[in-house]
Amino acid sequence: MPVITETAPGKIILLGEHSVVYGRPAIAVPVEQVKARSSVIPNPRAEPGSIRIYAPDINLDCDLKELPDEHPLRFIVSLVLKTAGVSRIPACTIRVSSDIPLASGMGSGAAVTVSLIRAISGFIGHLFTDDTVNQLTFEVEKLFHGTPSGIDNTVITYSMPIYFQVGQPIELLEIQERVPILIGDTGVHSPTSIAVGDLRRAWQTDSLTYERIFDEVGNLVKLAKSHLESGDLHQLGHLMSENHAFLQHMGVSSKELDQLVRCALEAGALGAKLSGGGRGGNMIALVEEGTINTVADKLRSGGASNVIITWLFGKKQPGTS
Ligand code: MEV
Repeated sequence: MPVITETAPGKIILLGEHSVVYGRPAIAVPVEQVKARSSVIPNPRAEPGSIRIYAPDINLDCDLKELPDEHPLRFIVSLVLKTAGVSRIPACTIRVSSDIPLASGMGSGAAVTVSLIRAISGFIGHLFTDDTVNQLTFEVEKLFHGTPSGIDNTVITYSMPIYFQVGQPIELLEIQERVPILIGDTGVHSPTSIAVGDLRRAWQTDSLTYERIFDEVGNLVKLAKSHLESGDLHQLGHLMSENHAFLQHMGVSSKELDQLVRCALEAGALGAKLSGGGRGGNMIALVEEGTINTVADKLRSGGASNVIITWLFGKKQPGTS
């Protein structure tokens, strides 16, 4: 039996995080420069059915059955077997690792889940469609990350830029030109579920104000989609910065994020904003090719613990490879 290895990318939200939880649209793109990786390695000398789990990033090395039922890795393995209608699998070691920063708004949890679901289903010879992988990952996200919109699992499963709105068909974006984006990490860990939960409480006490903000962001996202598709990066950048101002109003920015956004704009970025849950984690800056290095240097000197350069690009349709 061969070793099965699957990877899944990180992601950024170009515009529309948080308001997407309340039914407005958002745009997300995969970040292929960072990945979660899961391998299933047959272990023919071990007792049949035994599954060893090795996740060095979180110091985990044990038999799967030693983990509590509600541990995410155990839950994912059980979910895959249940969905495939398989009760026992050949003895194996599952190795999980990721270089996507944890709790930083880049979808590390969803990427681990997608890679693990695909690796196990490949190992047992029961390949799932992308739609099933997406659905299962959403189940896992709901269990461990509060009230997600579903945007993270969707962009990571399909690995393409998407225009996403809860309850609507997924739209893949046609981006004609390669567009450079810098991702600056504040180095501050901030689980998305906390920012999402705090915003929900604020919305419950003053839904009128927040609904108005979400509407404004929804309008920005719709405009951004057309600028992205027509290649008008100056307008797109402008909308991203406006989106950041609304995210500040929602209370999900932080002084570190605001500082990096300021640095990027001072250094010539076309637009900048936090990306993902906020309160820490990563910000993004839309740049022209000629200013990539200047903006990246300014982000580093402004306190970014890491800077990634990624490119927006995408034209594929779902199900194509
Ligand atoms: C997280 O990447 C995006 C949020 O809008 C949460 C969600 O949509 O589930 C903050």
